[in-house]
This record gives sequence, structure tokens and C-alpha cells, in this order.
Amino acid sequence: MCGIVGYVGSRQAAPIMLEGLKRLEYRGYDSAGIVVCSDEGLTLCKTKGYVDHLNEMVCNGDALTGSVGLGHTRWATHGRPSDENAHPHLSDGGKIAVVHNGIIENYAQLREMLAAKGVTFKSETDTEVAVNLISYFYEGDLLKAVSEAALRMEGSYALGILCEDCPDTVVAVRKESPLILGIGEGENFLASDVTALIRHTRDVIYLEDGEIATLTKGEVKVYSRDLVEVKKKTTHIDWDISAAEKGGYEHFMFKEIMEQPEAIRKTITPRLRGGRVVLDGIDFSPEYIKGLRKIYIVGCGSAYLVGVVAKYNMEKMLRIPVETALASEFRYASPLVGEDTLVICISQSGETADTIAAMREARRLGAKVLSIVNVMGSTIANESDYCVYTWAGPEIAVATTKAYSTQLAVTYLLTLYFAERLGIISDESYSELVAALQMLPEKVEEILKNKEHIQYLASLYFNKDNIFFIGRNIDYALTLEASLKLKEISYIHSDAYAAGELKHGTISLIEDGTLVIAMASYVQLLEKTVSNIVEVRSRGAEILTLTTQSAEEQISHVSDNVITIPDAHEMILPSLAVVPMQLFAYYVALSRGCSIDKPRNLAKSVTVE
Ligand code: G6P
Repeated sequence: MCGIVGYVGSRQAAPIMLEGLKRLEYRGYDSAGIVVCSDEGLTLCKTKGYVDHLNEMVCNGDALTGSVGLGHTRWATHGRPSDENAHPHLSDGGKIAVVHNGIIENYAQLREMLAAKGVTFKSETDTEVAVNLISYFYEGDLLKAVSEAALRMEGSYALGILCEDCPDTVVAVRKESPLILGIGEGENFLASDVTALIRHTRDVIYLEDGEIATLTKGEVKVYSRDLVEVKKKTTHIDWDISAAEKGGYEHFMFKEIMEQPEAIRKTITPRLRGGRVVLDGIDFSPEYIKGLRKIYIVGCGSAYLVGVVAKYNMEKMLRIPVETALASEFRYASPLVGEDTLVICISQSGETADTIAAMREARRLGAKVLSIVNVMGSTIANESDYCVYTWAGPEIAVATTKAYSTQLAVTYLLTLYFAERLGIISDESYSELVAALQMLPEKVEEILKNKEHIQYLASLYFNKDNIFFIGRNIDYALTLEASLKLKEISYIHSDAYAAGELKHGTISLIEDGTLVIAMASYVQLLEKTVSNIVEVRSRGAEILTLTTQSAEEQISHVSDNVITIPDAHEMILPSLAVVPMQLFAYYVALSRGCSIDKPRNLAKSVTVE
């Protein structure tokens, strides 16, 4: 979703911001723009379409002179993608410029109020309301005007603000949308996320809700909502810049698929010490766990689907009811949550608007929230009671792969941790599971070595119009992710069904040549899944089955093609079974010539509701 970059220093600002915007492209956007401030005032250029087009328009930044500026990639919410609606937006009269990420919910009332005072609007956006509201309160003190405007804006916003009266200053404010400050030497930066500024500095300040910052080339100051200066901690980012670059791969998605063994290793290994699961900062008493009436797992998209797998594993081992909920539903559903509920929020970015809201609602209702987050210092990581980080490194492709896999790995660790605390797992089973977890990265490596077979299968099926996935138990949970991955990046319609539910309606969709992908890694229910495969096969379906090496023979009799994964402990099988499905989606999308890393209409980081 919308990306913001800002620069104040001695260098030409435009090329720095254009490079930052390129790095924010992965968030998803439909238009781009920049504004620079110099003694001559504000100069602006914006366009519908890609940053490359903007780059051409401003001759790689050479055409815009000035060493203070803001840049923006817009993912349309209020108003269609167009040149007029692209950011930055200027106040009526052109004195102030703003870039914005978020949604100002009371923009209609504010617009009416401002229009009644004679303000003219040129776009359909809520952002133009924000800039005019700041301008309305501006009487020579930009910081004060921003603070006054912030008090009146409802909804979510991260704003970067420039004013031609103070050409050496950028002002920033945030509420619910992410914004970080980068601290350089004789120059400072502003960005929606670290990837945009890591080439220039590794020292960052995370702005918190309601905080306002002023950046000049020599100084960064942060203020509370009521303009009292606050001391902020600087965090040093230690990941390597190459982690956010393609490193010779054609697509980030493929690179991230290939990085999974290492990402899982990094997430698991430091938490297995002396044969035991150790989760730093987490110390639930057995009484607390025993007293839990329910565990809720909440997230959006694939993060939610990790919860669907975890539910099967956790309920089976812990005998505690586990409910999964989409964050966008949970937040408005008056959830039955209280002190006797643990809410686990899963989020790669830690900034997904609905998951943030769900987390806050759960805490308001008295539940403890444990988050599983990839981005350090993000809102969910900061505000939850406990956080277990996935150490997947930056994930750039919109369709998640390594974040999903590391989130799954954390759910195994948590399940084992709870089981031990509850005293409901034998030493033997515990050691067996720890050993299985230790072997997980190698098993994923083994699957990746066979990627050419998946590529071949994709070449057989890439031109299908509909693909159905079926499975039972954890395989059903995986079909949901496999189907989502495929439709996200290949634009093929696909659906996932619990195999046992087919006969209750969906089998009517099966006709000659329909591709059904059966996931059958959960060998305890193999016979049942085989029956369902036979049912669809006898109605003309082509069958591609995923199963374990030891079940291959049994499955091959009823399948046109088979993908095998290594045998493994039942709990960790999902981590193996998902990998061929990620590769399948990738190769199908590749064969169809799709925009794999940035699928149409999708955003990586969904920071608005
Ligand atoms: C978007 C991404 C998905 C992701 C979901 C939740 O839809 O494309 O890959 O699973 O958001 O994002 P989060 O950052 O909360 O995990």
C-alpha cells in the first residue's frame, strides 16, 4: 500500500527519493509522485503509473532542484488512480505539500467545512482534505498547524509535510499507519519502511501513534500529540541490504522460496537450547495455560491461514479449544474474549490495519496478546503483550512464502512450549518433535532440489481456467494456502474444499479435464482422501496429488501425476507440503507471463482497513 519517502540534507533530494520509491514498489501502488522544496518554493511532479515513468518525467531526478523533498507511491482508496489523485497534494494556494498513507475517515465533513470557508479542491482524495486542514490552521508555525489538524482527523494516517515558508524542514505525523525516521550524518530521512532508506542509514526511530516529528538536515525532534518533546530510542537495523535485493534471481518470490530453509533455521535453531524450546520473554505459568478457555488465532490472508494449520496441531496436542478468526471479522464481531483467552496475532509486516485493530480489541477486552511478527519495531510487535519474531529477513514479493513458513515454524515451537508447560507430553514425544524440528530445514532443502519436476507439472497445467484443491485435516488447511497462492499470482480461478465436503455440492463443478489437486500428506486419512480422488476422477477430473514418499505407490494408482515430499513427523508436514505448492503457483504464473512479485491490485502491506 501507499509508500512514503522523505529526505532533508545537502544532496539533490529527487534522485534519493526516486530510488527509495523503487524500493517501496513491492508494497503495491498505482501512481507515484515527488515534491521538492527550495528557496524558489515547491516543485512537484506526479503521474498515474509506475515509478519508472515518473523517473523519465523528471530526468532521473535531475529536473527537480532542491535538497528537501517527499515522494509517494499511491494505492488508490479515495478516488481512482489518476494524475490528479496521485500524491503529493498541495494546499489551495500551493504553500503546503503533503503525502499520505492511510484513510481519513471524517474527510467528507472536513471537506465540507473547508469548502464552506472557500477552499477549492482539485482531486477526489482524503489527502487533499488533510493538506488543506493543515493550511487552514497554519499561521506561521507548521508544527502547531499539523498538531491542530491531527487532533481533528479521524482514521489512520502517516503524513509527510513540506511548507515553502520553511524550506529546510520536513514535518511528519502518524496514527495507525507506519512511518519511520532514518538518522544520517548531515541528512535525515523519512520512510514507510526500512527498505527505502537502508542504503543511506541503518539507524532508525519508530514513530508511535500520535507523535509528530520535525526533520532538518542536522536534527530530528519528536513531539507528543500536545507538542511536548519526547526522547526517542534509535534502533540499529542489522540486516544486510542484499537481503532486500534480488541477488541474481528473476523474481523476489522465487528467491524467497529458495531462502526458506535458512529462514526456518534462523527462526527455530536459537529457540532450541539443550533439547528444549526456549522462547525468550515468554513465561506463561502452567496455571495460566490450564485456565485458558480458548486460544484465538487472528490474522489476514496467509497469516490467517497459518492459524488454520496451527489450530489442527494445537487442539490435537493441547486439548484446548483453538478458534481462528480473520482479523477484519474478529474486530467487529463482539468476540467472546476475556482474561481467560489468549489471542495470537500473526502478521509478517506487523502493520496490517485489521490485525492491529483486532489486537487492540482483544487487549481492551482483557485478553493477553501474543504476536508472531517478522518486522522488528512494528506496531503489532510493540503493542502486543508478548512477541515471538520470525527471523525471515525482509520479504518483498507480495505473495508470502518464507514469512508463512517461519510463522508456521513458530506455531510448532509454541505448541511444544505449551505442551511441556502443561505436562501433557512424554519426554519421548517431546524429544522426537524437537528432533523433527531440527531436521525441518534439510527436508525443505530436499524438496527445493526437485523444483524442476514442479516446473514440468506447471507446464502441463498452466493454461487451465479453474483449478480445485482438496484435502482433509491439515491438508485441507494447506489447500487454502495453495489455492490463495495460485490465484494471487497466476489469476487462475481456484478454490479449496475439504475433501469430505465435495459431495455436498461442489462436485457438480467437476467435468472432463478439470484439474483437481489433492493434498494427501496426512497419511492417517489417506484412504478417505483416496476415495474422494476416485469420486472426482470418475467424473472426468485430472488428478495431481501431493503425498509423502511412503504413500506414493498407493496414490499413484489414482493420480495422473504425483508430487512427493519426504516422510516426516505429522506436526511439521505442513511446512513440507506447502513448498511444492508455492513452486507450482510460481511456475504457473511464470508460464502465463504474470507480474509475479507485484500482482495486479494487490498490496504487500495492507495498512488501511
Ligand atoms: C497481504 C499479503 C499477504 C499477507 C497478508 C497479511 O494480503 O499479500 O501475503 O498474508 O497481507 O499481511 P501481514 O503483513 O499481516 O502478514
